[in-house]
Amino acid sequence: MANTNSNSIWVDADCYDGFELSRPQLFREETRDLFFRYFRIKPSDNVIDGGCGTGVLTRFIAKGLTSGTITGFDISKNFVEYGNKRIDEEKLSDKAKIVLDDGFALSFPDNTFDAVVNHNYLGVLSDPAAGLRELIRVCKPGGNISVSSGTSASTGTGMGSGQFWAGEYPLEGMERLKELMDKYNQAYKRIVTTSALKQSHEWPSGRFPKLFSVCGLTNISIMPVGAAFAYNDNYWSDEYRVKKITLDINDEIRIITENNKDPKFSENGFSNKDCDELVELLQRKQNYLLENYRTDDSWEWSAGLNCIVTGTKPFLD
Ligand SMILES: C[S@@+](CC[C@H](N)C(=O)[O-])C[C@H]1O[C@@H](n2cnc3c(N)ncnc32)[C@H](O)[C@@H]1O
Repeated sequence: MANTNSNSIWVDADCYDGFELSRPQLFREETRDLFFRYFRIKPSDNVIDGGCGTGVLTRFIAKGLTSGTITGFDISKNFVEYGNKRIDEEKLSDKAKIVLDDGFALSFPDNTFDAVVNHNYLGVLSDPAAGLRELIRVCKPGGNISVSSGTSASTGTGMGSGQFWAGEYPLEGMERLKELMDKYNQAYKRIVTTSALKQSHEWPSGRFPKLFSVCGLTNISIMPVGAAFAYNDNYWSDEYRVKKITLDINDEIRIITENNKDPKFSENGFSNKDCDELVELLQRKQNYLLENYRTDDSWEWSAGLNCIVTGTKPFLD
């Protein structure tokens, strides 16, 4: 029997902006062919995207398919609804759809899909081995199954590590902002553990290649791809930058304020006073960026490493 405890964390999830804004830093238009090679997908394949959330990867792959299709599934009906709306808006409905399904008990018959992908999905499960076995079940023999997972390229509310430079803003209080953010992150790491998120201790993402092997997949490889973002990087459109400044910082403030209601944050060195001061400094930075993002030259940036583990489902003798 699978341990399905993590479902309670995700069933009502509705945090759209974080996924929509961070994923394009990894799934960049010009890298689609590379991802197809690493995921071992052909443009004519019928693909499934596990725990697809709002469907950024689903849409990214759909755009590279010719006669193929992609079906995303997720346990949050909010994500399914939002994701299908985005698919419609981007006129991809002939190739892509998202369905409500539980990855521990998928409604698809055995051997349905040519290829299986997912990003940051298996690692959130309380039982990644059970989740992977379901993905293998619905994949055709000879088909390829991939998991993509990475450290976050965000500025600090998550637990991911990577490369981060706080930038040199011509603004008072930015050193203090960094100090307070470090304090918050230290408390966060002590409190928001994998146990609190009902994730598995047995199969952290570093052990996925081994998990693939234990689950009988062959021809396993590990391919690296990076994600990065800077407000000053002209790669990003004005529209994207303004969304990052507005929605990302609002999200950061919301998460920090919500978390700080838990007295454990004060007990772990991040007081309510620290929280108020941090929020005020984040708002100061947000206001500055909104007014100056075109001319600012502060070069705050962040980056993270993503790895794609892929294996082949063997044919039965
Ligand atoms: C960290 S999010 C990643 C979302 C998306 N793949 C992305 O990277 O943008 C994990 C996703 O797994 C979904 N999920 C968690 N448990 C699931 C389950 N048992 N069945 C289906 N989806 C599940 C969550 O609802 C959430 O959308």
